[in-house]
Amino acid sequence: MQTPERGLVEILEDALVVVAEDGLIAEIVTADDPRHEGVEAEARAAGRLEVLGEGRYLLPGFVDLHIHAPQWPQLGKALHLPLEDWLQQYTFPLEARYADLAFANAAYRSLVDALLANGTTTAVYYATVHLEATKALADICQAKGQRALIGKVVMDDPALSPDFYRDLSTDQAIADTAAFIDYANGLAGNGTRLVYPTITPRFIPTCTDAGLKALGDLAAATGAHVQTHCSESDWEHGFVLERTGRTDTRALEAFGLMTRRTVLAHANFICDDDMDAIHACGAGVAHCPLSNHYFSNAVFPLRRALEKGVHVGLGTDISGGHDASIFSNIRHAVASSRALADGVDASLPADSRGRPGSAVDFTEAFWLATAGGGIVLDLPIGLLAPGYFFDAMVIDTHAADSDLVVWPELDGLDDVFQRIVYSSGRQNVRKVWVAGRAVVDKG
Ligand code: GUN
Ligand code: FE
Repeated sequence: MQTPERGLVEILEDALVVVAEDGLIAEIVTADDPRHEGVEAEARAAGRLEVLGEGRYLLPGFVDLHIHAPQWPQLGKALHLPLEDWLQQYTFPLEARYADLAFANAAYRSLVDALLANGTTTAVYYATVHLEATKALADICQAKGQRALIGKVVMDDPALSPDFYRDLSTDQAIADTAAFIDYANGLAGNGTRLVYPTITPRFIPTCTDAGLKALGDLAAATGAHVQTHCSESDWEHGFVLERTGRTDTRALEAFGLMTRRTVLAHANFICDDDMDAIHACGAGVAHCPLSNHYFSNAVFPLRRALEKGVHVGLGTDISGGHDASIFSNIRHAVASSRALADGVDASLPADSRGRPGSAVDFTEAFWLATAGGGIVLDLPIGLLAPGYFFDAMVIDTHAADSDLVVWPELDGLDDVFQRIVYSSGRQNVRKVWVAGRAVVDKG
């Protein structure tokens, strides 16, 4: 079950997904293909046939475009404050602890296990300012088999970055970023590539102009992915306008940080001109609908961005978002788009309450979480198709202790897909593969 295009659901019964040694899908043999029987028999004879079984369905794995790995120990805490106070009072002190490698290893192992168990096969991570702990996260993803884009966070401006948690200098921040790129590229040598180094200025408020420019130059020199926060909240958007005289998007562009492989987190306050700029360079947005309820003061204009051709996928924004599951964020994407469409203030007349035409449905939100995320990252992931990595999960609709209801007398396969999207939990994720390797297997 998958969504090859936004709004298009594809359900193949009894298809064979042929996975090659390199973890890529070689072909999909449909039930009506005359070679079906032969290919199946050959795989069985070779002991390589995997049969899903009754009530189990194969879906592409999720792409989570925005995760703060060091904030995992804080999941579900401290969400009562606005962004700028939450960062200073809770988040920077927590992230500072990752100078301690033992703390970092324990937290990162726990996080990667949890995300894989939730079906997240590709994770886009901010680590911390610490080079060694960032390398530890890369090692853990490589060892556990999660596809991961990872960045050493840059915070080189003492104005908003506290003394106890920032880069010692701009030069050091750039040198450490370059060192991490080399380290992660070195990891790629053993087998299929899993870890991609990512240039990560935290956001404009914690970075100097010189640092941002140097990171832009590094992006051009290395072709590495870039991630940062963009126009997230009233405070952040206003701060950047005041400091640079431009929107986040246009400022990032001037620093050379807007590339085909740039992921902009949130982007709630982007205007039409920003959308045009993002579209023109092929960058993408990590829409984080749950987190936005807490920190963003507004709903991301998702439908508008999609109509303008902007690449968009989904992110949990752990721990600004208090849920590790992309299933959950799919549901929040649908719900918040509907709130934007209808409006939220009952004291206003219905015809001036919302922004009609803003809603997306669950099939579109599932596409964002899979193929849409793959397009943002410019990687062959998010789809079960030849040439794409076999990054996939099995959903077990009969899992014990689950609220996923399937009612055979009422449900066709389209209904089953809808129910999976709306009601699956971690307990329904039975098996997960990344690049053909089983990384979660509950039997
Ligand atoms: N802006 C800068 N840092 C952060 C962060 O850690 N979380 C969120 N949501 N926004 C940010
Ligand atoms: Fe974030």
